[in-house]
Amino acid sequence: MDEQGRRMAEIRSNFSRSSGEYDRWIRKVIPRYDEMLDVLVSCVQCPEGRRLRVIDIGCGTGTLSAKLLASHPAVELTCLDMTEDMLDMARERLKGHECVRYLVHNLYDFEYDGPYDLIISSLALHHMVTDEDKRDQYDRIFRALAPGGYFFNADVVLASDDTMQELYMEKWAEFMYNGLPQEEVEGSVLPRYYKEDSPARLTDHLGWMRETGFIGVDVIWKYYNLTVYGGRKSLVD
Ligand SMILES: C[S@@+](CC[C@H](N)C(=O)[O-])C[C@H]1O[C@@H](n2cnc3c(N)ncnc32)[C@H](O)[C@@H]1O
Repeated sequence: MDEQGRRMAEIRSNFSRSSGEYDRWIRKVIPRYDEMLDVLVSCVQCPEGRRLRVIDIGCGTGTLSAKLLASHPAVELTCLDMTEDMLDMARERLKGHECVRYLVHNLYDFEYDGPYDLIISSLALHHMVTDEDKRDQYDRIFRALAPGGYFFNADVVLASDDTMQELYMEKWAEFMYNGLPQEEVEGSVLPRYYKEDSPARLTDHLGWMRETGFIGVDVIWKYYNLTVYGGRKSLVD
């Protein structure tokens, strides 16, 4: 198994094991988690008289999808995740909503069955191992979008230099110490971050999106190492 396959297997197994605890845990680990997701959803505009075709990639337990459906119930939504136990939680959370389908799939070899009017994601793309993997995913996302379609991502990123990165890590640790025992932060959360997560600089993400062809690429929200950014595909080629 190559590095990417090994890493995905490890991520899947860890999320699988902790899926039942995830919703409580993530709010102790990610400052302003709900605010960040709410900001992303606030950017979504639904045309009248037509269902927006949406996919939430790396949907996990479905928090972002649930927020989207609460604001825009008339969407046709696909929830995709490679961890079946996480997707089961999403299924349970979203039951009763029409027009939602669930796909267990790894983004690395997912052939998007678009076109989609909107592609959204939260805290998932930083798991893509290399910069090349992230660029490739932007390319796939771009091709899957309908003309005029949008992509928004809420995620963890790196600072532009080491000094800023140190500040971000300090602020992040400060937040976690408020909600979790020190042993858990230092013995579990931070080692898992260094082992499983591959965040990139926000400035790189924005550049890759522009190179891919996205227009209107912008940062919508930022709090230290957490951010919401996005862009859209032009209406004309
Ligand atoms: C930190 S959780 C985020 C879940 C949810 N989006 C949220 O905001 O709470 C990351 C999720 O991304 C999924 N994931 C990571 N890499 C993936 C990949 N290559 N393909 C599909 N899902 C992936 C994991 O299985 C996990 O459910």
